Amino acid sequence: MSVGTPIDRIEGRLKVTGAADYASDRILDGMLYGVPVGSTIAAGRVLRVDATDALAVPGVVAVYDHTNIGTLHSHGSSSLKTGIVDEHRAPLSGDDVQYYGQYVALVVAQTLEAATEGAAFVHVTYAPGAVHNAPITTDEGERKVGSHRGNPDKAFAASAITVDQTYRTPVETHNPIELHATVAAWEGDSVTLYETSQAVVNHQRVLAQMLGVSLDKVRVFTHYLGSGFGGKLWPWAQSPLAAAAARRLGQPVKIVVTREQMFMNVGHRPQTVQRVRISADADGRLTSLQHDSTNHTNMLDDYDENCSEATTYFYSVPNLRVTSGLAKRNVGSPTSMRGPGAVPGLFATESALDELAVALNMDPLALRLRNVPQRDEGLDIPFTSCHVGECYELGAKKFGWQQRTAAVGSMQRDGMILGWGMAGCSWIADRLDCEVRVELNPDSARVFCATQDIGTGTYTMLAQIASDALGIPVGHISVSIGDSSLPPGPMSGGSMATASVIPPTIAACKDALHKRKSASAEETVVGYGRSDGTFGGEPKKSSHSFGAHFIEVTWQPEIARLRVRRVVTVIDGGRIINPKTARNQIEGAIVFGVGMALFEETRYDPRTAAPLNRNFADYVVASNADHPSMDVTFLDYPDYDLNPLGARGVGEIGLAGIAAAITSAVHHATGVRVRDLPVSIEDLLAP
Ligand code: MOS
Repeated sequence: MSVGTPIDRIEGRLKVTGAADYASDRILDGMLYGVPVGSTIAAGRVLRVDATDALAVPGVVAVYDHTNIGTLHSHGSSSLKTGIVDEHRAPLSGDDVQYYGQYVALVVAQTLEAATEGAAFVHVTYAPGAVHNAPITTDEGERKVGSHRGNPDKAFAASAITVDQTYRTPVETHNPIELHATVAAWEGDSVTLYETSQAVVNHQRVLAQMLGVSLDKVRVFTHYLGSGFGGKLWPWAQSPLAAAAARRLGQPVKIVVTREQMFMNVGHRPQTVQRVRISADADGRLTSLQHDSTNHTNMLDDYDENCSEATTYFYSVPNLRVTSGLAKRNVGSPTSMRGPGAVPGLFATESALDELAVALNMDPLALRLRNVPQRDEGLDIPFTSCHVGECYELGAKKFGWQQRTAAVGSMQRDGMILGWGMAGCSWIADRLDCEVRVELNPDSARVFCATQDIGTGTYTMLAQIASDALGIPVGHISVSIGDSSLPPGPMSGGSMATASVIPPTIAACKDALHKRKSASAEETVVGYGRSDGTFGGEPKKSSHSFGAHFIEVTWQPEIARLRVRRVVTVIDGGRIINPKTARNQIEGAIVFGVGMALFEETRYDPRTAAPLNRNFADYVVASNADHPSMDVTFLDYPDYDLNPLGARGVGEIGLAGIAAAITSAVHHATGVRVRDLPVSIEDLLAP
């Protein structure tokens, strides 16, 4: 059996030797280089693009703007079937500017250097308009009531113990190591796109629409991804731009988005503001919960962060209401970032739980255990498998939680003040439509699926699943993914890829084994499998992953040093296909959570709406020195309602809850409750 064993990544050697081909590595004959020019206003109109000086730069072959790019179609409504995109409008499709950095021209040249120089010589004249950039508020936007049960207002008013607080999370920018990139090459009326995409099938659908060609004329490759964190789920403007320029020029065009442009043109987690009202009886049983959230979106699209995604089922509480609203601002479109909705949402609700525990004079762990849900009370259906209580208990034991003393600043070690905090976490578990082909040879096999490996281990897991299903050693299984012409597979998103590929891979292997019975021993036989997704349907049971984090921070007030030292995490993620890649996901998410809690924030100039810290010097992410020691445990309860191996997903859940556990630990150490991320040293030096 290979499933359940911590084997190395089958593509690991290719990656560490540099042989893995990433999108921007692609060099084609006659390839040209595109460099987009970004707007220096956040709102208004382009009056004139003067390309004279740019065209005079040696090597520059063309400059495009909204008057001469040719026809690019905006994308219609987003759905899994028609393709999903967050910035619906095609690039260069009008003279209006909606955000700072929006592409207003594209310079194409024989070299990257010439294109970069040319871009600096494009002179754009603007008519600036009013910039909408004010901080967002909880009552902003048309209020949409989500889940609702009982009478939360009445229960809240009648409760002796209440918390009513507002929490804020800032804009965070996805910063995968690998920059967004597109290489577009036409042959006749067909285009090949080398992309860094978390969803090659979706990319094909969206680009076919934007380019006005049929689906079979677009082929998208993403052999490897230098991660994405949600930022590469949907296509961004550089892709249709590269394709449009390549079509006009009859030569391949490469565009690599710069790190600076990553802060403007390829999505971000929106800022959120969330009011949480929560009440309990004297024993700590929740009596009501209200969660009202707002996120910003851009002027033309409606990106909804869905902060209350987990609120409705994660707590047992009879009276509940969640509402949401959108606030239009002059920013590029937000998009999904690792754990969209639940991650900022659980920061708010798990922080409120900690505040409630303080108000009750109750241990925050005991408060969680008292309110563990037995079923999904939001949908009023049972869970497929939920062991969050065991996550809390085992995590507490491994951490040594029972030694915690409640008083602020009461725990010390080596002259440092200790803060201990904890929080729960949860994330959806679903499947997407998936088809798989398996070619079975006498003693080897190859698995084909148009999914991709964002770095989570999809190559390896497909080989493990097929190995067990075929009875062939994993080393004899090869895997072809990252090509939209293969049998359509799931996006690498929503932590759904692993669960999605299991049923059709097993079915395709069985089909191939069956066909081999009537074939000669030397023949290659081909098996097919497909399965319908569960995502977006009307479930009879509620399937989620669960977990708990216990965190120790140290605080040295004399030098204002705050460190996250130690994290114990227990995850109930169903059957774990590969404990090594799974642990890697949770550990990476914990570090991501340290960044979210303590460092990450994209700041915009209040006057111009330009992101100010759009580089790695000023936008701080967690570094090696910020890594805590991490102890990750997986419970082993296969969830057979979801697929025959009982696997759920672990890509996102590890980030949920971390920030709340850290700010709760910070409160325990310092007495300062930070409700507006990230925690800054200034917050802790309050008089
Ligand atoms: Mo994840 S934000 O669905 O890539």
